[in-house]
Order: sequence, then structure tokens, then C-alpha cells
Amino acid sequence: MLTSGGDAPGMNAAIRSVVKTCLHHQMIPFGIYDGYQGMVEGRGKVLKYKDVDNIIQLGGTILGSARCQEFHEQEGRKKAIEFLDSEHVDGLIVIGGDGTYRGANLLSAESGLPVIGLPGTIDNDIFGTESTIGFDTALNTVIAAVDKIRDTASSHHRIFFVEVMGRDSGFIALNGAIASGADAVLIPEEHTDIEKLAHDIRHVYKGRRSMIILVAEGDDAGNALVVMNKVKSFLMEYDLRHSVLGHIQRGGSPTFQDRILATKLGNYAVHMLLNKQSGLALGVKGGELVNCSLMDAVKGHASLNLDWLSMFDELKTK
Ligand code: F6P
Repeated sequence: MLTSGGDAPGMNAAIRSVVKTCLHHQMIPFGIYDGYQGMVEGRGKVLKYKDVDNIIQLGGTILGSARCQEFHEQEGRKKAIEFLDSEHVDGLIVIGGDGTYRGANLLSAESGLPVIGLPGTIDNDIFGTESTIGFDTALNTVIAAVDKIRDTASSHHRIFFVEVMGRDSGFIALNGAIASGADAVLIPEEHTDIEKLAHDIRHVYKGRRSMIILVAEGDDAGNALVVMNKVKSFLMEYDLRHSVLGHIQRGGSPTFQDRILATKLGNYAVHMLLNKQSGLALGVKGGELVNCSLMDAVKGHASLNLDWLSMFDELKTK
């Protein structure tokens, strides 16, 4: 098993679940350090109960994670496969985002090794699941931060542009905006018209002490600082600030939701391997565990339901 790509709260709960389920079924769990990097470099170890004791509550990943360039080359993958052979690995569980899934697909095609993917990313942008491990915790971090920013914004009559993660998708931004009662949200899925935004701000701000605008880092108008500066040229007299939440969104103890999701998916992954399944991406839909082919998960696009953007628009201050 490995964790790869951006770490996400709940990855440890998934690792614990995989290890405990393996041991229950007399299988030998083997952890690879630092994702595909550790696989290429031959770093890993057999995991025991004590390795996963008291880790369900920990953020990050005890196995470490990385984004590995070498693994993109066939030569790198050859080294990785040699390492797996030398350790007698006969099944692989990867926990990460779509880059992690792509790597698993290639490895499986080149080695014949059964692979199962678990969605682990705060971004929630994985096809084949309604929720990814880490998304719920990240959103709770976002709303706690926005609540605090609003306190200072209101005290000083300020308009804040709060940047959240999401290079290609607005899952965190839109859900964060709905849950924090923000006044506007900018997401990569929708074109941002700065002049209209400035006009809306002027209109909404009348008689208010503060405004909160959530900006996904991948918005087409730019990040929060860029957007703020563009808006500033239309609203010179306003006191504008920006705040980048950054990597605090990736850390912290996983929420109840993420612990449960990770535990269920980890257990399910081992059962899939026991049932001689391969090439599957696991997920959850309507409260049920589901799977689809890893290939579909890599090719597919997890699309944000824009009905919730329409709902947000109905609720925001006019
Ligand atoms: O994919 C998870 C994620 O946190 C994205 O939301 C963000 O754009 C990216 O990783 C940041 O990556 P890094 O930690 O490598 O800068």
C-alpha cells in the first residue's frame, strides 16, 4: 500500500483499516514510503498492528507522500516493479488523487499486479465517488477560518478575498461558501467577470460591515490577490484584504466523516483484493460503497453540481 500526491486527513485511518483487515485475514500488509518515490527507490516495510495503533486521529500520512517524476518514465517504473517483485508483493492498494490512479494503471498494465485505488484528496475531484477522504476535514478547516476572518472583517469594515485550494475544481470553494455564508464565490468552472463582481460588491456592501468572497486558487481571473487587485481598480475607496488559507486546509485531525469513509474504503479495498479483483477505483454514493474501473476514474471528470451554485446565488445578499 502507498499514499501519493497531496496528503489528506483520513489517509492514516485508511492505512489502519487496510493493515487491520489484512491481518484479520492472515495477509501480510506492506507499506511503501513516500508514494511512488519510495517504490522506485525500494523503501518500505511490513506493517504490524503496533504501526497503526493510535493513528486514526492523526492528520497527514504515516507512510509519507510525494509527487514522483521518475515514476513517469518507464525506467523508473521498471525499478519499482523490481522492488515489488523482490518483496513478493501480490496486490497493491493506492490512496491518492487521479495522478495516483494514473500511476497505478500504468504499473498494473506493465507488471500484471492487481491494483485497487482509494480516493484520497481534499479536492474531492475524483470521478466515481461523491466524497474523497480528506474533503470533509478540509471544509471544516475552511469554515472555521472564514468565521474568524469575518470577525476581523466586521470590526474593520473590510472586504476579504479568501483563497481556498482547488486548482481545477471549485468543490472546496463552493461548499465552503455555502457553509460559511459567504457573499460571493469564484470557481474555475465559471468565468469570472471582474467588472460585474465589483458592481455586485458595491451594491451588496451598502449598509454592511463586511463581505467575504471565496476564491478557488484556480479561478480564471487569478488567485485571491490578483482578483483583489483587479477589483480594487473599480473600488478604490474600499478597504480590501486577501487571505490565503493554503496548506492548513490539508492538515489536522480528520473529522468523524473522514475517519468513517477511510475505514470503510480501506476494509473494502482488502476485500476486493481477496476476491481477486483488480483495476478498480473505490468510492461512496448515496451512503453505499461503490466501484468503477480505474481507467474510467482516470478518464472521467468529477463535475461539480452547479445547481448548488444557483442555490448559493438565490441565498446571497442582494
Ligand atoms: O491536490 C491537493 C492539493 O492540495 C491542491 O488542492 C493544491 O492545488 C495542491 O495540492 C498543492 O500542491 P503542493 O502541496 O504540491 O503545493
